[in-house]
Amino acid sequence: MRPMRRVAVACIAAVVLSCAGHAAAQAVSRPEALLKKMTLDEKIGQLVQRAGGRQRALNSRIDEAELARVRAGGVGSYLHVAGAEPLAKLQKVAVEESRLGIPLLFAMDVVHGYRTIFPVPLAMAATWAPEAQERAARIAADEATSAGLHWTFAPMVDIARDPRWGRIVEGAGEDPYLGSRMAVAQVAGYQGGNTLRPGALMATTKHFGAYGAAVGGRDYNSADISERTLQEVYLPPFYAAARAGSGSFMVAFNDIAGVPTTANRDLMRGVLRERWGWQGLMVSDWGSVAELLNHGVAADRAGAAVLALDASVDMDMVGGVYADDLKAAIEKDPARLKLLDEAVLRILRVKEQLGLFDRPMQYHDVEREARELMAPDHREAARAIARQSMVLLKNDGKVLPLNPAKLRSVAVIGVLASERRSSLGSWKAQGKEEEVVTVLEGITAALPKNVKVVAAPGADPRTHDLSGIPAAVKLAKSADLVVLMIGEDFDLSGEARSRSSLELPPSQLELARAILGTGKPVVVLLANGRPLALQELTEKAPAIVETWMLGVEAGNAVADVLFGKYSPAGRLPAAFPRTSAAVPFYYSGNPTGRPADPDLAKDTVRYHDLPITPLFAFGHGLSYSEFRYSDLAQSTQAVGPGERVDISITVENTGSVSGDEVVQLYVRDPVASISRPVLELRGFKRIELTAGQRKRLTFSVTPEQLAFWSPRGQWLVEAGRIDFWVGASSADLRANGSFEITKTHAGTAPAAALPTRVVVSNN
Ligand code: BGC
Repeated sequence: MRPMRRVAVACIAAVVLSCAGHAAAQAVSRPEALLKKMTLDEKIGQLVQRAGGRQRALNSRIDEAELARVRAGGVGSYLHVAGAEPLAKLQKVAVEESRLGIPLLFAMDVVHGYRTIFPVPLAMAATWAPEAQERAARIAADEATSAGLHWTFAPMVDIARDPRWGRIVEGAGEDPYLGSRMAVAQVAGYQGGNTLRPGALMATTKHFGAYGAAVGGRDYNSADISERTLQEVYLPPFYAAARAGSGSFMVAFNDIAGVPTTANRDLMRGVLRERWGWQGLMVSDWGSVAELLNHGVAADRAGAAVLALDASVDMDMVGGVYADDLKAAIEKDPARLKLLDEAVLRILRVKEQLGLFDRPMQYHDVEREARELMAPDHREAARAIARQSMVLLKNDGKVLPLNPAKLRSVAVIGVLASERRSSLGSWKAQGKEEEVVTVLEGITAALPKNVKVVAAPGADPRTHDLSGIPAAVKLAKSADLVVLMIGEDFDLSGEARSRSSLELPPSQLELARAILGTGKPVVVLLANGRPLALQELTEKAPAIVETWMLGVEAGNAVADVLFGKYSPAGRLPAAFPRTSAAVPFYYSGNPTGRPADPDLAKDTVRYHDLPITPLFAFGHGLSYSEFRYSDLAQSTQAVGPGERVDISITVENTGSVSGDEVVQLYVRDPVASISRPVLELRGFKRIELTAGQRKRLTFSVTPEQLAFWSPRGQWLVEAGRIDFWVGASSADLRANGSFEITKTHAGTAPAAALPTRVVVSNN
């Protein structure tokens, strides 16, 4: 090569190299660059989440010793903290006084509102209106982020088929399709979209993967379920939330078939991260890394730390195991450093996505906080969503709605009608009791001044004291009409609040018997955080409204429904059994070789001493109006891979008042290589219809939504006939048809997680 040419080649090579060097420099992200500078202690510090307070005493633990820890880079996140100003001070210490200035993540359980408390999640699921759920989550996020928070531990998407489990109140009930829609709505609402962005409230989808399957409904208990049930029933809402961009996930406390989820490598790395491609932040549950010792899978804390880290639990909530014991484990086996680095990177990445490196103080605007908390439009939304959550279980003789013009006196009986705390339900975040409108207040405010409203507590669900019942009966007899509010108080459902009995608390049943025995017209309002067994009450009471725990606007919303300002249209997100002993009961069981038959002479899958149906079915809920379903049509008789069938139906309000109807689409694969459930929800839409109005709905279903988890461990769509029904509940199916899947092929994802598009047009 001539010298000149050699120089030129060398130059080009140098340029290429320097370009490559430049590109490499650019490719190093801020988290990666930071990681390179971090000491082992600082890395471990990022994995540490500490309690800044207790649930009821936020920030109470942030003392000098805590600040010293932050300065030393020993903390990545705090939970149970709040307030734009106090958290600004704490964040400043992290950003300005720690060596690397890495911001902290502030977290809280903002589950159904921050200050403006909405209905409990089970009640919001009863709206069957994901858009309402999304709006509530958005408002909660606006309030929480204005108060210094970056991160909520919601949505809880655990499917619950056993209502004895106290945490059924925190989720969307028994069905994976409904659960998936509600999960997606919450992630979108909290985060403001499906990617984490600066200023968002990061969602935590919890508790991965089958916490709701706790045996016997006893909280924290083992889940012992088949792989198919795990994949088809418990995991779909998690998949849907992962796809919706949930920034973080939380593990479950319990074990699945002997593998505690905090150490479940196959589930977290294998399913969530590898198969589903989710790369967010995985947080342990409260002390769940330490609990690996109790589970009997780790001999000591260092062993527990290694198991959890290996399973890809990035952050240790409160337990202090990573803080105290991970270092020695890594020093013992430096190969573990790689796992630690991955976890640190995932934590730093979400901090970056939330904008915390560039604008750490954007969550600390005190004026914004004052504006957001309990803003008037937030209260209005809470009232609207509370109305949507109520389920009219029974309304014999059209007792409801009540006509105020015909009333002279009303007796409101029951402790729960004037108890503020129970309206807030489990996880009240910063909800304030004094801001709750009670049912008694709501009813009083809604009635003309000349109607006399009297009230008596009767009996308290928390005690067996029946001494107040005679006075309540006397008062009831003195009035034209009785509104009786009975049920569970807030502390009878929620975490560690499993009950062996689903009957009304004994004092509540006694009160109901006495009041219904007066012969006065009685409307029963139920307050509860789980399906109850209400056989006797249902036989005796003409009208029952399920009000759950409705949040700050409970009283106004209840009055709107009682007096007909709003026609109830909520639907049960879980069946109500006839007795406690009938659970678990769910609508989507398999047919079995001997399908249940009402005829006791036949030997079928049933109890001999109970009817085969639940008391109130999944999807049940009445209205003040009536709706007619007609003109079912379908776009095709046969669908292949990737194609769709459009199923259309007309729904008409044939009653005399406006109201919502929840139109539900169910499917069944009647002949397959494995037995398939008798019914599965695959679409729904809550629509509003004025009297006489008709609307046409079109549900678009794909064959992939019929996939099942095959014995070979894959999603499989089998060729063959699929039956479908459109109806008003799982037990009130109004029209049906079928179509053919033309080709056996692989499914794409957990079938129940895939959304059905529903188009509504005027007709
Ligand atoms: C619960 C979680 C919750 C955490 C933090 C745990 O006891 O299981 O759902 O997010 O506490 O409060």
